[in-house]
Parts: sequence; C-alpha cells; structure tokens
Amino acid sequence: MTRPQLLIDTDPGVDDALAIMMAHAHADIAGLSIAAGNVGLGHTVRNARTLVDLLGVDTPVFAGCAMPLVRAPEEDAAFVHGQDGFGDIGFPEPVAALSDEPAALALLRLTRERPGELTLVALGPLTNLALALRLDPTLPQRVARLVVMGGAVTGHGNTGKVPAEFNIGFDPEAAHVVFEAFPSFDLVDWEATLRHAFGDAEFDGWLAAGDQRADFFGQIVGAARGYNAKHDRSGVIAADALAMAVALDPGIVTRSEIRAVAVELDGRLTRGATVVDWAARLGQPAQANIVLEVDQARFAAMVRRALGAPD
Ligand code: BDR
Ligand code: CA
Repeated sequence: MTRPQLLIDTDPGVDDALAIMMAHAHADIAGLSIAAGNVGLGHTVRNARTLVDLLGVDTPVFAGCAMPLVRAPEEDAAFVHGQDGFGDIGFPEPVAALSDEPAALALLRLTRERPGELTLVALGPLTNLALALRLDPTLPQRVARLVVMGGAVTGHGNTGKVPAEFNIGFDPEAAHVVFEAFPSFDLVDWEATLRHAFGDAEFDGWLAAGDQRADFFGQIVGAARGYNAKHDRSGVIAADALAMAVALDPGIVTRSEIRAVAVELDGRLTRGATVVDWAARLGQPAQANIVLEVDQARFAAMVRRALGAPD
C-alpha cells in the first residue's frame, strides 16, 4: 500500500504531537504549517521544531498567523496543554530549522507543486487555511482530501462558549471561510473525540512499552491528563490523533453522516458553534462528512505504532 502524503496545519499542543507522531509512523509529511491556538505562535512553532528533532526528520516548518483573522481570541488552551503547550517540561531549544516562507504561502506552493496528491489535515484553528483560501480560492481543487479536527456537532463543546469547540471557537471567521470554500471535507468533532478516548491503564501500558517517542509523550501529556481527571473527563483524550487516524485511513470510519455545517459568528452565547443542518431543511450543499464513530481497535493500533509500542 502506498503511504499517504500529508500536509499538516497544526498548533502543537499535546494531542497535535501525538497526531504528528502518528503521521510520521504511517505517512510522508510534506510540511507542518503552524497556527496560534493552544498557546501563542512562538510556542507552537518551537514545539513543532522540537517534534521534528525528536523524529529525526527534515520536515519543513512554516510559521503562520499569530492572531485569528478578525477578533482577538477570548481564551487559549494553556490551562490544558501547559503554558508552553508541551506540559512545561523545559525542553532545550530545538535545532530544526524554521522556514522563512509564511504558512499560507507554503500551503499554496506545496499544493501547486503536487496537485491532487496531498491530504490536508487541519489540527488547529483554521486561520492559515482561510488566509490561503482568500489568496487563492482554487486551493480546494488541488488537495486530495481535507480532514478537519473541529466543532461540536450537537453543541457539547469544550470552551467558555458552551456549544463551541476550541479550534472553531478560537477563530470562527476562519472556520467560516474554510467551511464555505471546501465542497467536501471530513469533520472529526470534539464529541467523537470523547467517545474514542483511551483507557488510562491501556494507554500507560503503551507508554511503558514504547520507545523514545513514548517517553516524550508520557512527559508532555501529564499536565493534560491531570486537568482532565479534575474535570470529569475520563481516559486519554486525543482529538487530533483521532482526526489523524481518519486522514491516514478513511476505512477506519464505521459511522458518518454527510450534512451541511455552518459556523455561528455572532451569537452572544454561541459564537464559534458549528451549526449542523441535520434535517437538510436549508437547502445548503452538504459539505461535511461528520465522523461519528471509528474502529477503536484500528485507531489504537495506529497510536501504539506511533509510540513505538509492539502490537
Ligand atoms: C482541539 O483543541 C485543541 O486544544 C486540541 O489540540 C485539539 O486540536 C480540541 O478541541
Ligand atoms: Ca490542535
């Protein structure tokens, strides 16, 4: 089987790190374009370079937008991922290079060089992708697939605006641009993520059995696990890893529904919510393949391999 060819837009972030390790284990990565989100851009860029060092690859890293398109964000996710986004372990300054090409331009260039070849995997706020689309609206024609981690399709979000999920709530205008521009994409939402958390004991077994990637992940995931345990979230929740699993192997999806999804931009309590036209009442094109369930055993196998743990 040929290896998937990926272009990853991300805001690392603990679960972004696991997703990137999965991508490295199962696919070729054309580049990492970096957004602000979980923490500020300086940290997310540095964390991407730390991962490139850990994996011993020469994947190019492109810095993107430090701010959402329109409004300043109301919150970041440092309280989950740590102030530096990687659990505040204090890793040394990475050596991996940072490209001087802005992320949005890199997304356009790489998809022009390899039209129809790359699966775009969006693991953070959609700011870079929206900017690229405004520069060149033909971008969707050049990607093989788009997979987005974002949204809360029945309103069970994870931000201060109750129905909003973090990636969409951080930059709703960007998500709006992307959701309107792409005629089809896979949407892996926060609610699916909760249904596909890993048990603590099984995950600890993989960490103990894995290689240096497991050692690294075991360090950075500590803060997030502590936060989740205090907030009634059980197990190891790996949103971006789930989206990456769908990107790597669409055959893993066991239940999904194709619906029109729009982003609320104005609501006092609902800004950033993903509004799903479940009953197809509005006559809008149904562009989102909403992933509701995946094969958990196959998902787990992908994560284990990414950590270097035997099957
Ligand atoms: C998403 O928000 C971030 O905190 C995670 O990295 C993930 O991309 C989950 O809502
Ligand atoms: Ca993320």
